[in-house]
Amino acid sequence: MSPAADIWASLPVPALLIDADDRILEINAAAEGFLNVSAKSVVGVPIWDQVNVDSPLEEAFARARAHETPLFVNDVDVGGGQRAPLQCALQIAPLQGAPGQMIMLISPRELAGRITQHDSVKSAAKSAIGMAEMLAHEIKNPLAGITGAAQLLSMSLSKDDLELTDLIVEESRRIVKLLEQVEQFGNLSPPDFREVNIHDVLDRARRSALLGFGANMKIIEDYDPSLPMAQGDPDQLLQVVLNLLKNASEAAGKDGGTIRLHSYFEHSFRLRRADGTGRSLPLQVEIIDDGPGLPEAIKADVFDPFVSGRENGTGLGLALVSKIISDHGGSISVTSVPGRTVFRLSLARAPKQTNPKKEV
Ligand SMILES: Nc1ncnc2c1ncn2[C@@H]1O[C@H](COP(=O)(O)OP(=O)(O)O)[C@@H](O)[C@H]1O
Ligand SMILES: [Mg+2]
Repeated sequence: MSPAADIWASLPVPALLIDADDRILEINAAAEGFLNVSAKSVVGVPIWDQVNVDSPLEEAFARARAHETPLFVNDVDVGGGQRAPLQCALQIAPLQGAPGQMIMLISPRELAGRITQHDSVKSAAKSAIGMAEMLAHEIKNPLAGITGAAQLLSMSLSKDDLELTDLIVEESRRIVKLLEQVEQFGNLSPPDFREVNIHDVLDRARRSALLGFGANMKIIEDYDPSLPMAQGDPDQLLQVVLNLLKNASEAAGKDGGTIRLHSYFEHSFRLRRADGTGRSLPLQVEIIDDGPGLPEAIKADVFDPFVSGRENGTGLGLALVSKIISDHGGSISVTSVPGRTVFRLSLARAPKQTNPKKEV
């Protein structure tokens, strides 16, 4: 056998060779096993009859062939003959020296990979943020240069042209603000845990909101006065509440609305972890507004970074909120219908101080 044939036979991944008319020319041993067919019986069979893919690939496939470029497709369900579909990644490339022929590798995703899919979504979000942080850093310097140049230029311009340099300066400011938010995300340190009076946090957030972005809102306090101390980082929790109040105020619009800050104790609330253990999170804080509610289209993803329903929104507010709460070992959830949106935070109680510090 030639080395090429050896490689073909030994490849531990299902591989298919496809001719210029989208028919199977050859399949390797791994593909025989995977598709549960013999190589002889599938020669000449149209590829898409043998490999059932849930998303239409013909066009992308044709383009890869025409442009002689490889094509990678992640997360497609591939069925074959009698076998139930399996989630796979496809790697497709033109065969060198044989015009029109394509080689297709099928990599079934392992079961473990599918189970932790949720985690991989999370880490995708993380790397998106990591990437954005890097970009933020790289963009800020040249942007400062652009703004400075526009300001210099504006000194020698007529009044009409000034509008243009003003636009440059203004838009640059907007970008800087966005970049700062991205950077803030990256700079978030682990919580500095201490005993926190949640009502103090709510009060601080409320006062600051009423003086600024929430000036046209009514913010009602509905506290359980016997609520025990929480375990948390007061500054980070303040950021959380401010973000939620800001979103509610922005959703309400110019006419304003009402926000209710509701705290209560729910002894039985536990967060179940994947490993089966649970953590008691009895302190509940709800931030309830009577605005229009979450836009239907983004309802399921509001805690993901860069998901925003507002023009000029960054989609980083709730991602930051969710990161802080998860660093606190707490949980956040939302229910929303027009007229009533409830963000609920559940937090751990501060450990009881049973051993007052002794002098040594
Ligand atoms: N209380 C709320 N009422 C209605 N929609 C909300 C509320 N809070 C958040 N949203 C929606 O969720 C989106 C994401 O919010 P956020 O992550 O803070 O990003 P941003 O505020 O930059 O858009 C908002 O754009 C808005 O569409
Ligand atoms: Mg926001």
